[in-house]
Amino acid sequence: MTLPTFPGPIDRPRRLRTTAAMRALVREHTLRPADLVLPMFVREGASENRPVSSMPGVVQHTMDSLVRAATEAVERGVGGLMLFGVPETKDAIGSGATDPKGILNLALARLRAELGDSTVLMADLCLDEFTDHGHCGMLDDAGQVDNDATLVRYRDMALAQAEAGAHLLGPSGMMDGQIAAIRDALDGAGRTDVALYAYTAKYASAFYGPFREAVDSSLTGDRRSYQQDPANGREALRELELDIAEGADLVMVKPGLPYLDVLKDVAAASPVPVGAYQVSGEYAMIEAASANGWIDRDRTVLESLLAFRRAGASTVLTYYASEVAGWLQGGLPEHLREFA
Ligand code: PBG
Repeated sequence: MTLPTFPGPIDRPRRLRTTAAMRALVREHTLRPADLVLPMFVREGASENRPVSSMPGVVQHTMDSLVRAATEAVERGVGGLMLFGVPETKDAIGSGATDPKGILNLALARLRAELGDSTVLMADLCLDEFTDHGHCGMLDDAGQVDNDATLVRYRDMALAQAEAGAHLLGPSGMMDGQIAAIRDALDGAGRTDVALYAYTAKYASAFYGPFREAVDSSLTGDRRSYQQDPANGREALRELELDIAEGADLVMVKPGLPYLDVLKDVAAASPVPVGAYQVSGEYAMIEAASANGWIDRDRTVLESLLAFRRAGASTVLTYYASEVAGWLQGGLPEHLREFA
């Protein structure tokens, strides 16, 4: 067979893909258990775990099963735990969020007592799980989310979470000025030690669908007046600038895979570590497709997590964190070695 004539010798990048050893030598990114953060749900008054049907393998924990699953995840070396509370009763101002006896604060206190400083204990700092209208903030008389009234509630919520033992608070409500307001409240109370993981670029996304079941959300409308428009990339950088100026210690992009471009831009511009959140809908898609035998579950999971690292994430929040940390700790089987 005669090859077409080239202007010069063919460049052959395939030389670096010839053997597993050669591929390992030139691999740019890997996964470690400590890169992964496990989001967990704890339900008030529950006597047994409740499976979240749209997220096979994910449950609303009782306090005791939360402790067991958290301890296991920490033993596997995950980088941290992000806690969400599912309260029994809700009201207009989300009272359960600031009550030291509210489910999220009780769970934080219990985990801090059990785990001490052996992991980074994180708390979702948002009112949506606790409000009867399901919005992330306080509503004004017209039913709109009132930014500044919400900041007052966030400040109190931050103090309650710090008091309960959280190391790192994750404000996820997308209110303007939330990082500054919370930092000021913490510092004023002498809690300069508590760090802030800002949900910096958080989009109004359909990929949060299964999460609404996971936290028994009461929301009937949408969050488009505070979460970002999926069509926009530029404003993520504006949000980043504000969060950095206001005192964010880490910043996050959410959802994950559909927003890798945003992640990459944020990672390039950020002076602080950047995380990404592989959200409930991303998890549900992988589970549904693999349950049908349409994709190889384990490879898809690892490939998706590695993609976040490649795009610039230091940490990845993922419902697979504990499982994958276990795989990594035990040594990956031969067919998955390329991922770690
Ligand atoms: C708000 C919050 C949400 C998620 C994390 N924090 C829901 C929302 O903004 O509507 C979604 C996480 C997921 O889908 O996995 N407290």
